[in-house]
Amino acid sequence: MPVHGRPSFTGVFHTSPDGYLFCEDLQVKTVQDEFAKASEYGSPFFMYSKRQIGDNVRSYVEALQRHDLPYILGYAVKANNNLTILRILRDLGCTAVLVSGNELKLAMLAGFSTDKLVFNGNGKTQWEIELAVTHDVMINADSLFDIDHISSVARQLGKKVKMLLRMNPDIDPEVHRYLATGSAVSKFGIPETDLDTALGKAGSDDNIDLVGLHCHIGSTITNIDVFRATVSAMLRYNNHVQGRGFRLKYLNVGGGLGINYRKYIQVCMCIPSGGELIDSIADKIKESGLCLILEPGRSIIASAGILVSKVIGIKRNETRSFLVIDGSMTEVMRPCLYGAYHHIQLIEPTSGTRRYSVVGPVCECGDYLAEDIELPIPHEGCGLAIRDAGAYCASMSSNYNMRVRTI
Ligand code: LLP
Repeated sequence: MPVHGRPSFTGVFHTSPDGYLFCEDLQVKTVQDEFAKASEYGSPFFMYSKRQIGDNVRSYVEALQRHDLPYILGYAVKANNNLTILRILRDLGCTAVLVSGNELKLAMLAGFSTDKLVFNGNGKTQWEIELAVTHDVMINADSLFDIDHISSVARQLGKKVKMLLRMNPDIDPEVHRYLATGSAVSKFGIPETDLDTALGKAGSDDNIDLVGLHCHIGSTITNIDVFRATVSAMLRYNNHVQGRGFRLKYLNVGGGLGINYRKYIQVCMCIPSGGELIDSIADKIKESGLCLILEPGRSIIASAGILVSKVIGIKRNETRSFLVIDGSMTEVMRPCLYGAYHHIQLIEPTSGTRRYSVVGPVCECGDYLAEDIELPIPHEGCGLAIRDAGAYCASMSSNYNMRVRTI
């Protein structure tokens, strides 16, 4: 059975020979101690590696350039909306993909140029559409009514809006059901049977410039064939659209690439990198002659972040040992919401190992970070890190139980 604290001596997050976790060249324990001195609210906190963000972006960009594909790499802000991170991604050449008016405001604050931004959503409200149209943001229309709403705002503002149709291809992404967005039972996208009606609306509207097709079929996808099937469906739609006399510019294949959350304990689980995803779809995209839009979130930011927490106390009952830490479901909700796995390791040396369930202080039985895992034996106050917490942790955090919201 693998021990969860097994250290990695290389990489951006690495453990020194004397047993301390480092993020780049910073000892995480030192940072934790400094925060504790500065404020009683100093723990838990998120810590991010700029170098890892750069590596993750470059995996996509190098492959896109190698295949000589025209592209827009739009980071999905919902994964992590930290302003400093957004600015780093802007400097790395990313654009941003948004799901609310407030995300659009934040993207503008971060300095993204608005005409390469993409606005998604199945229930966009009037003010959100107004903001997007005013700033020439591209909009993925999610439904027939969404096309009508967008058109009506564009008319009122006297603007022509660049619109993509978000299609629902009914493809099973082989993920948790909450994360499957492109299957027939999902609330997202336009079914193929409505494509002609959508084209009829968008094509006859002077305020709409139909520029592309969009699909985002799910998140945490690990099977590359799912992406190839999605692109094939989109190319079929594109042929149909061309047959109706439209000339599109963009094929937006969404985001959704998973990461290997278990890489610390299960080395040979083959999950493609961003670059490998591009390699697998490049031939089809090239053939289409269209500009590729990508909307990755998790694969850019998940591995670049950790939640740093500390042990409050250890208690035992007849079946379990509980490690009660100051981090909780209010910072890392994914285990409780999706049964997701996040690797946990101590950030300082100890000796021996034991099995623990790692739980937070929130008044809920579902408030666990890991169930029955093997860890080095910690002491009270011992620091630990919850790995791959860069995506969908800070952005999904809450102040439930009136906890201080950690962002
Ligand atoms: N584009 C659209 C339209 C999306 O809905 C999403 C995520 C993305 C892009 C980015 O997908 P990514 O590359 O990050 O998989 N809270 C869940 C994740 C929900 C993601 C939903 N859509 C989690 O913690 O796993």
